[in-house]
Amino acid sequence: MRRELRGARILLTGASSGIGRCLAEQMAQAGARLVLAARSAEALHKLAQSLTAHGAEAVAVPGDVTNEADRQHMLSAAVERFGGLDVLLNNAGVGSWCHFAESSEESLRRIMEVNFFAPAELIRLAIPVLRNGRSPAIVNVASMCGRRGIPAWSEYSASKFALCGLTEALRGEMVRFGIDVLLILPGVTQSGFWQHLLRNSGRYPLNISKGMPPEKVAAGIVRALRKNRTETILGWDARWVLRINRFLPRLVDALLARQVRRLYATA
Ligand SMILES: NC(=O)c1ccc[n+]([C@@H]2O[C@H](COP(=O)([O-])OP(=O)(O)OC[C@H]3O[C@@H](n4cnc5c(N)ncnc54)[C@H](OP(=O)(O)O)[C@@H]3O)[C@@H](O)[C@H]2O)c1
Repeated sequence: MRRELRGARILLTGASSGIGRCLAEQMAQAGARLVLAARSAEALHKLAQSLTAHGAEAVAVPGDVTNEADRQHMLSAAVERFGGLDVLLNNAGVGSWCHFAESSEESLRRIMEVNFFAPAELIRLAIPVLRNGRSPAIVNVASMCGRRGIPAWSEYSASKFALCGLTEALRGEMVRFGIDVLLILPGVTQSGFWQHLLRNSGRYPLNISKGMPPEKVAAGIVRALRKNRTETILGWDARWVLRINRFLPRLVDALLARQVRRLYATA
């Protein structure tokens, strides 16, 4: 199956920055009609204006995905402006780089709200509209941390594992509505993610210089949507970690444990 993006009505969350912003630009170029959602109203309006100036159809709907009324507003915008919805692209997300023992319940609950409960409830809300859409699809942007838990990404890994589990289970459930459910697992990407971390107290020095540009990740997501790929791993780091972990999970455990021991030995 090949999904046609020209004319597709797409609700994209997390459109104000990074991967989401690039996705908006690439999908607009492909002729999709977009509802752009995120909290940063100014960035969102500017993006919608610039896409519209280039001939695309895009509407900015500022809001917080963790807020029920805002989620309803995002969906209503698609129905009112475009008469329905074909694709829900759950991209909004946040990271937390910290050691679980020193973090807090508040931090864990917040990351679960943004990365799991918000996309989950947006999906529930969108199902009745999506089922009447054209080649309807739900795309969930998780992370390689959603398939392999990584030290100091414990809260983030938990939230993305939850999203991956929901995605897999829904794939079967949504068959009766004819809605495809796709999962994206990106590796390290150079985006606003690293400035927007909920917590940034991990001991290991972060190095994102070899991360992918967000344009590349967005192109991978657009390709996955067009080709209707069930699960897409993006980036050499994600591909390697997940491949080795699949066959030799204990080796990955041992390597990560060695790194943590070294870190605390010198601390
Ligand atoms: N960067 C990486 O290395 C990496 C790797 C794997 C997976 N990912 C995933 O890729 C997705 C996109 O992240 P990114 O790298 O593009 O990071 P980013 O530049 O920080 O973008 C995150 C987007 O999510 C939005 N967002 C965050 N909290 C929100 C909320 N409560 N309500 C509405 N929107 C919210 C932000 O907009 P506002 O702040 O304006 O609300 C922003 O548009 C995330 O799900 C992330 O977990 C990223």
